[in-house]
Amino acid sequence: MRKIRKREHIENYLRATYKGDTLLGDVFLEHNALPDLSFDEIDTKVTFLGKTVNYPIIINAMTGGIDLSWEINHELAQVAKTFNIPMAVGSQTIALCEDEECKKSFKVVRETVGQDGVVIANLNAQASLEDVNKAIEMIDADAIQLHLNPAHEMVMLEGDRDFRGVLKNIENIVKNVEKPVIVKEIGFGISKEVAKKLIDAGVRYIDVSGAGGTNFIEIENLRYNSIDLSDMYSWGIPTALSIIECRQVSREIYLIASGGIRTCMDIVKALALGGDMVGISGEILSYLLHGGYENVKEYLETTLYKMKILMLLMGKRNIEELKNSSYKLTGKLKELAEQI
Ligand code: FNR
Repeated sequence: MRKIRKREHIENYLRATYKGDTLLGDVFLEHNALPDLSFDEIDTKVTFLGKTVNYPIIINAMTGGIDLSWEINHELAQVAKTFNIPMAVGSQTIALCEDEECKKSFKVVRETVGQDGVVIANLNAQASLEDVNKAIEMIDADAIQLHLNPAHEMVMLEGDRDFRGVLKNIENIVKNVEKPVIVKEIGFGISKEVAKKLIDAGVRYIDVSGAGGTNFIEIENLRYNSIDLSDMYSWGIPTALSIIECRQVSREIYLIASGGIRTCMDIVKALALGGDMVGISGEILSYLLHGGYENVKEYLETTLYKMKILMLLMGKRNIEELKNSSYKLTGKLKELAEQI
């Protein structure tokens, strides 16, 4: 059942047509007509989870455990290796049984990127401590992502209906697992209140995964004819607002900005708003399914080149400087941010 569902998620990702809004369009960054630097000296390297990576970009969690997954994860891992960027695998719940075949589609990621690469494990935030340790060990992960997905579970006919005790479980995992724990949404955003609770529970890495990109209410709805959920497709905290909310709670936490990130402008704005890293899932999956490794490579090469151009046009020498950019908010984002 889980395998069929995971396959349908990928197929339905491609069929989905709803266009959400990250509200990153309401972020205005100022042009610098006097950038006192040379394009060649722009440095995009950052340290993430104790390793140096070439760009502040993560190939975010998507797949594993189904027939297509080995090929997808192998190609994504080749991309991660080429660009020296981190990659998270999809939920490993499917591989926690003793099925070696299933595990292979996750293990291929570490095998492809090698020991120097950053690989991140992934499980639901309700997972047991034992399973978290197994998931980390399976791919020799540098960290584990625990995903929060109540909206997705609620619209899934066979989904969970009881979300009690999740925060306590996260707290217990953070206390007892040796590797860093990243708590992430899957496309509906993390609010200021939720960020506060996570930080109080000891969480230091939050991935906002806000609304405006992949929409699991629609993806799930495309699996059934029995219920029309289209009036709920706009649910969620837009990515731009979620970054601002979480960053307001603490300057100290490590913030990953994801959800609807597609272009060089999205990346630069997400970092200026307060992201330390930027996660991309759906856009990379699209390029992969439409043209494989070469297509993703071309997309990233172009996007990262343009990101560097924008850094020059803002007079920013490195990612630290870019993160400290001032910005102005307009429209709906301004209205919402004033009410946080
Ligand atoms: C996902 N995502 C996801 N997240 C997670 O934590 N575990 C998972 O197993 C999956 N599986 C998954 C499958 C597919 C096909 C997609 C497209 C996405 C969610 C993903 O990591 C990310 O949070 C959201 O997709 C929002 O980012 P984008 O897609 O808008 O860039």
